Amino acid sequence: MKILAVGGGGREHAIVEALARSGNDIYACMSNSNPGISRRAKDCLLINEKDVLKVVEYAKSKGVALAVIGPEAPLEAGIADALEAAEIPTASPSKAAAMIETSKSFSRELMLKHGVAGRAKFSVANDINDVKKAIDDLGESIVVKPTGLTGGKGVKVFGEHLMSREDIISYAKDILEKRIGGSAQLVIEEKLVGEEFTLQAFCDGMRLVPMPAVQDHKRAFEGDKGPNTGGMGAYSQAGGLLPFLSEDDYHAAVGIMSDVVEALRKEGAEYKGVLYGQFMLTKEGPKVVEFNARFGDPEAMNVLSILDSDFAAICERMAGGGISMNGAAFAPRATVCKYVVPEGYGTKPLAGEEIKIDEAGIADEGAVLYYANVNASDGRVLTTTSRSAGIVGVSEEIHDAEMIAERAIKHISGRIAVRHDIGRREMIEARVRHMKEIRGDA
Ligand code: AMP
Ligand code: GLY
Repeated sequence: MKILAVGGGGREHAIVEALARSGNDIYACMSNSNPGISRRAKDCLLINEKDVLKVVEYAKSKGVALAVIGPEAPLEAGIADALEAAEIPTASPSKAAAMIETSKSFSRELMLKHGVAGRAKFSVANDINDVKKAIDDLGESIVVKPTGLTGGKGVKVFGEHLMSREDIISYAKDILEKRIGGSAQLVIEEKLVGEEFTLQAFCDGMRLVPMPAVQDHKRAFEGDKGPNTGGMGAYSQAGGLLPFLSEDDYHAAVGIMSDVVEALRKEGAEYKGVLYGQFMLTKEGPKVVEFNARFGDPEAMNVLSILDSDFAAICERMAGGGISMNGAAFAPRATVCKYVVPEGYGTKPLAGEEIKIDEAGIADEGAVLYYANVNASDGRVLTTTSRSAGIVGVSEEIHDAEMIAERAIKHISGRIAVRHDIGRREMIEARVRHMKEIRGDA
């Protein structure tokens, strides 16, 4: 089957590898020249991924029978609606359904209206008086978020990035005046305390099939220090739970996501595609931090590396209906993904620098390499301001997967940075201890 894949990051390289595994012909649209994707694809178009009309024209000219969209920005631009209007089944949500990610006020108001569990207290602010009132109502232990998309970099947390009421007001003013995230609106939300985890699910508008849970690491530096990033790496445990996440917690999160899909359906915005839930596991169970209308990046690399079922068939079902548990099986393996990023990523990333990647060396270590936001040029691989390559170790235990990833990273050189602590035993033990303290059974 001919399949269109949109996006040029690590997540999209993982999507393309998974689609290519069952012998499909891939046609790729991306804004950077990702060598992993171009190698697998029958044809590639370098393009602004939000240029919906051109992407649809390209898809039609190639006669593709299915489309899969990686990033959120084209979804917000209505790419799935335009592809479907051109009679190309699309395994990604419409503009209206993608509002679950693209508008933080929409997602919170939807959950409230439909009584979905796992809500943090929140308030939507359109001016500075709303902000002051929200602080009076919720207290200072809050999180400030622009309503619109900011590439994972717009959220500021009290006690970490904001130290006083004045800091909160000043950041809120910035959002309102500079329209950070694309509109003069922000969400002020109760600060949740616990351990974060990601749950991704395949959805066909009606039903939802969950994938293994994953824990991402958003902070740029080791020990969870520094600014928030798109994600520096993530791990998953064999069997789908996490060392601090019980079966009950997992099912509670699945229930919240199913209820959200149902709420969207009732609002006339059928959700088709991968739904991503970012949760905080609190003393009271999982609460929603965020929804995304797509796979996570890096989390896609964790789960797609162990997907045993035919991913193209799953995408056809997300687009056309009939998704089922039997059709989406994962190998009982742990995964550790570490992102190699340009030096300075998170603050001042070094773009345009050459990095050397010894693919054979990485394969010899038994690890999987996914190229991310790099540009291939005359046989060289050059960094951009975004993440460069994801390395995934797969094994029965997280610890062994971590060692595989670490050994493989030695085959990449240049002005790069890596969070070596991701998936390490001490880090995981600290997470388990933290969760026990929060639950009060330490
Ligand atoms: P986002 O970009 O919206 O996924 O948020 C980035 C990060 O900010 C999350 O991964 C959390 O670590 C943190 N965060 C967001 N909302 C909250 C919240 N309500 N309470 C505590 N931390 C939060
Ligand atoms: N890893 C977080 C995200 O994809 O938004």
